[in-house]
Amino acid sequence: MEMQEVVNRAIRALIITAVVFAAMVWLLSAGAYLWIKVLHIVAVMSWMAGMLYLPRLFVNHVGLERGSTASDLLKGMEHRLLVYIINPAMIVSWCAGLWMAWRIFGFEGTWLWLKLALVLALSGFHGYLAKAVRDFAADRNVHSSRYWRFMNEVPTLIMILVVILVIVKPF
Ligand code: HEM
Repeated sequence: MEMQEVVNRAIRALIITAVVFAAMVWLLSAGAYLWIKVLHIVAVMSWMAGMLYLPRLFVNHVGLERGSTASDLLKGMEHRLLVYIINPAMIVSWCAGLWMAWRIFGFEGTWLWLKLALVLALSGFHGYLAKAVRDFAADRNVHSSRYWRFMNEVPTLIMILVVILVIVKPF
């Protein structure tokens, strides 16, 4: 059941992204570029804020007694952060980013392909954190707070590399 559920959620996110992207391609001309970039930057800021905060919640959650009020509180915070902020922010980041990549840059530029590879890795890590939210909710987490502190650095490192690539466009 677990793996099938992960696949179903990923397919659902892909369908929503494809439909929104198709609507943007159909409705928007290149003149919308700067407004789409505003939308993109606001969405990636929200996505990154959530991706940096969620492992921090896990660090604090590990030490709590299972079934305690504090543990239940963190389960609710982790679920709401994922469902109401991180998931929608990722979808908007992809739609606005792909629209600019297609409409403005014609998918040209080594920086763009390297960036796409990094944000695909970031999206995979997003999926891993989503599974961890379900593990904590079912009191199935097996990792230490030290492990989650280390995991907290993964989105930080990817974010720095992505921003260098898109601002400097070194190649
Ligand atoms: C999710 C998939 C993503 C795609 C397809 C994508 C694609 C793009 C494209 C094509 C641009 C326009 C570049 C320009 O106007 O010069 C852009 C701008 C930008 N992206 Fe992304 N991006 C994605 C995710 C991210 C992420 C995760 C971050 C940050 C961690 C990010 C940070 C930025 C920034 C800061 C800009 C503005 C750059 C500027 O104005 O010079 N993007 N993105």
